[in-house]
Amino acid sequence: MNFTKFLNMLRIKKSISIDLGTANILIYDKQKRKVVLNEPSVVALDKKTGKVIAVGKDARQMLGKTPDSILAIKPLKEGVIADLDVTRQMLNEFIGKIYGASLFKPEVMICVPLEVSSVERKALFDAVSGAKKVYIIEEGRAAIIGSGIDISKPNGNMVVDIGGGSTDIAILSLNEVIASKSIKIAGNTFDDDIVKYIKNKYSLLIGDRAAERVKKTLGTAIKKDNPETMEVKGLNLLIGSPDSITISENEIYEAIENSLYKIVNATKDVLEKCPPELASDILDNGIVMTGGGSLIHNFTDLLEKETKVKVFLSDNPLDSVVLGGGLAFDNTKLLHTLQMKEN
Ligand SMILES: Nc1ncnc2c1ncn2[C@@H]1O[C@H](COP(=O)(O)OP(=O)(O)OP(=O)(O)O)[C@@H](O)[C@H]1O
Ligand SMILES: [Mg+2]
Repeated sequence: MNFTKFLNMLRIKKSISIDLGTANILIYDKQKRKVVLNEPSVVALDKKTGKVIAVGKDARQMLGKTPDSILAIKPLKEGVIADLDVTRQMLNEFIGKIYGASLFKPEVMICVPLEVSSVERKALFDAVSGAKKVYIIEEGRAAIIGSGIDISKPNGNMVVDIGGGSTDIAILSLNEVIASKSIKIAGNTFDDDIVKYIKNKYSLLIGDRAAERVKKTLGTAIKKDNPETMEVKGLNLLIGSPDSITISENEIYEAIENSLYKIVNATKDVLEKCPPELASDILDNGIVMTGGGSLIHNFTDLLEKETKVKVFLSDNPLDSVVLGGGLAFDNTKLLHTLQMKEN
C-alpha cells in the first residue's frame, strides 16, 4: 500500500450509534447504514476472577441456569447502568466482536434515557474506551428521529418509547425536548406482573423468559371476546414438581392492566404539561409509540382511546432509537445541542 492510500485509510470516518438498552443493545453503523449488532444486554462472569465469559445471546442462555462458578447478569437496570465496569467490558466486547481490534477511533453516539443524572452521564462517557468523540442523546429524541419524523421544525411531536426497563415520554419541537417524563414501568414490568399473577392464581412459578414468551404471544391492552390461550410450564409450588397450565389473553390483560394504565397516565401527565400551541400540533400529528413494549397487541388503541389523540406505531419499534442516534450525526444543529466529550 502506498503512503497516500494509507493516509486516506486513516481519514475514513467511523460513526456508530449505540442504544444501550436494558433489554437489548444495538449498534448502528452510519457508514454501512445498518444495524450491525443486536444482542440481549446480558453478561456471564466467572465469579472468582470477575472475567467476562460470554456476552449477549450466549450469556442469555445462562441466565437462571448457571452453575455456582458462573454469574449471568444484566448490567443495565431500569434503563440505567447498574454496573459500570461490567457494562464497559460488555460494550467493548461487542465492539470488538463486530470491528475486531483494528477499529479506527469512531465517533460514538450513546442513546440514554431522558432522566439520567449527570453522574450517570459521566459514567457513560467513560463506558466506551477508544472513541474519538462521544455524544449523548436522549432516547426520546433519538426514537422520534428514528421513526422518520423531522423534529427540526417549530412543530410539536410526541413520542412514547416503551423499552424493557423504562418508558420515556417526550414532546419535542425545534430539536429540543419541551416536556418529558420517564417511568420505570415498561416491558420487564409486564413480565414481572405475569410471573406474580400466575403464581398467585395457579401457585405455579414460571421463569422470566417463559413470562416474556407469554407476554409476546398473549399480551393485549384490550380485553377480547374470543381470547386465545396457550400452555405455560413452571414449578407447581403446592406439589413441588414441574407442572403446566393453560392461560388466556384476558388473564394476561388482567395481569398487566395496572402497568398499562401507569404508562397511559404518565402520557396524559406529559400532555397536560404541553404548551397550548404545541398541543394543537400534537392533535394534528398524533403520538408515535415505539420500543419493544409498544408491541403489546392493541396498545396503540388503548392509548388513543384514553388520550383522544391519534396514536401510530413506529415502523421499527425495536431499532428506532439506534437509527435516530445514527441520523443525528447528520443534523449539525442538533449535534450542537448534545453533550459531547472529545478524547
Ligand atoms: N412482540 C412483543 N410484544 C410485547 N413485548 C415485546 C415484544 N417484542 C419485544 N417486547 C418487549 O420489549 C422490551 C424490549 O424493548 P426494547 O428493546 O425497546 O428495550 P430496551 O431499549 O432494551 O430497554 P430500555 O429502553 O428500557 O433501556 C422487552 O421487555 C421485550 O420483552
Ligand atoms: Mg430503549
